[in-house]
Amino acid sequence: MERFVIEGGKNLSGEVTISGAKNSALPIIAAVLLTDKEVVLENVPDLIDVRTMIELAKHLGAHVEFNNNILKIQARKISKITAPYEIVRRMRASYYVLGALIAREREAKVSLPGGCAIGPRPIDLHIKGLKTLGVDIEIEDGYINARAKKLKGREVNLQGPKGTSVGATINVMLAATQATGQTIISPAACEPEVEDVANFLCHLGFDISGQGTHTIIVKGGCAPSGVHYTIIPDRIEAGTFAIAAAITRSTLSISDCRPDHLTGILEKLEEIGATVEKSENKIVVTGNHQMRATNIFVASYPGFPTDMQAQCMALLSTVPGTSIIKETIFENRFMQALELMRMGADITIEGDTAVIKGVQRLSGAAVMASDLRASASLVLAGLVADGETVIRRIYHLDRGYEKFEVKLSLLGARIKRRPE
Ligand code: UD1
Repeated sequence: MERFVIEGGKNLSGEVTISGAKNSALPIIAAVLLTDKEVVLENVPDLIDVRTMIELAKHLGAHVEFNNNILKIQARKISKITAPYEIVRRMRASYYVLGALIAREREAKVSLPGGCAIGPRPIDLHIKGLKTLGVDIEIEDGYINARAKKLKGREVNLQGPKGTSVGATINVMLAATQATGQTIISPAACEPEVEDVANFLCHLGFDISGQGTHTIIVKGGCAPSGVHYTIIPDRIEAGTFAIAAAITRSTLSISDCRPDHLTGILEKLEEIGATVEKSENKIVVTGNHQMRATNIFVASYPGFPTDMQAQCMALLSTVPGTSIIKETIFENRFMQALELMRMGADITIEGDTAVIKGVQRLSGAAVMASDLRASASLVLAGLVADGETVIRRIYHLDRGYEKFEVKLSLLGARIKRRPE
């Protein structure tokens, strides 16, 4: 297992290029299983999770070449309909093959993904949505066994206790491409990654409209073709570098990103007192010593994303005043707080609310990464802490940030990857 060793207190400067979005790439690779033609995907981030999805696509019968962020993939035939536990346990997003296999083969057997470090992760909305389209689903021996004689377009209600679901919207959309008639998904998730998957499906030749809103309409039954498609930039990676600029009180140019996808994050940074300049595909963020506390209410898109909450907690630990973060999407997503407190942060957690009192300085410490975004928050804290920070279990970070320490080093950070 590897760790990061960070020497804090260095100013950052320069330009960083943002990679393709992990949360688009994963379902789009699953969606490729809908067609027997070759698909070429560009801007695919080279991440552990992407490699896992590629492994799963190969296991199911796809031929794959992946070089320099270009993925050539063709599933002439599906040779297996089972997504085994050994792969699904490594990455929850493996469940996207459920919708794709049901559409193409009318049959799928997908290991149940289970919970994860950030709390229970139910899949009841995925199951409810697919059942509405006519899929028979049984849970047996830890597997979802799904079969459909016929898929029928219907109105699919994805309202859950926490609102709608990104994953369920995509799974239902994939299955609905081969349903007879029209499927109306409502409320649908309107995250940019959902829109990207829908746009990809349209490029394949499917008839989808309403993506980017809370009502998606899929007219099923079209024959898919092959396609070249470019994955959108990763808004969470861009947001993480924006916070790197703010927390180190530096100026960073963040290029090849989509500022329009970053509204919730950038508005918060401006409210805190950072300067944000936007152009078509670039933002320039400058932190300063007058930044102030704020309150954050995590919400689905276009609100402040749960995937940026941990990173923002690190920043708020370093600005004067008392900030409050209310996490509304996942129940157990404050695990970075205890580690940040080991670095001198003043944080109190009560249920879904964190109260953060800004401190004068964070100090380097040995800390442990617990999940993907918590890892990023510890790196950000390490960049500004006095002395040395050692972060263990960074494999979490490798699941979702492409060449993170290389990109940070090029901006002037002192961060090294070391074997344990
Ligand atoms: C996706 C993202 C993840 C992000 C999350 C919320 C991927 C691979 N992951 O996760 O990075 O943090 O969206 O933006 O794209 N829920 C149910 N029943 C279900 C499904 C979800 O109750 O069947 C609940 C979840 O527990 C959670 C909320 O709905 O409280 C949102 O989850 P969802 O949008 O499904 O997140 P994911 O697709 O798993």
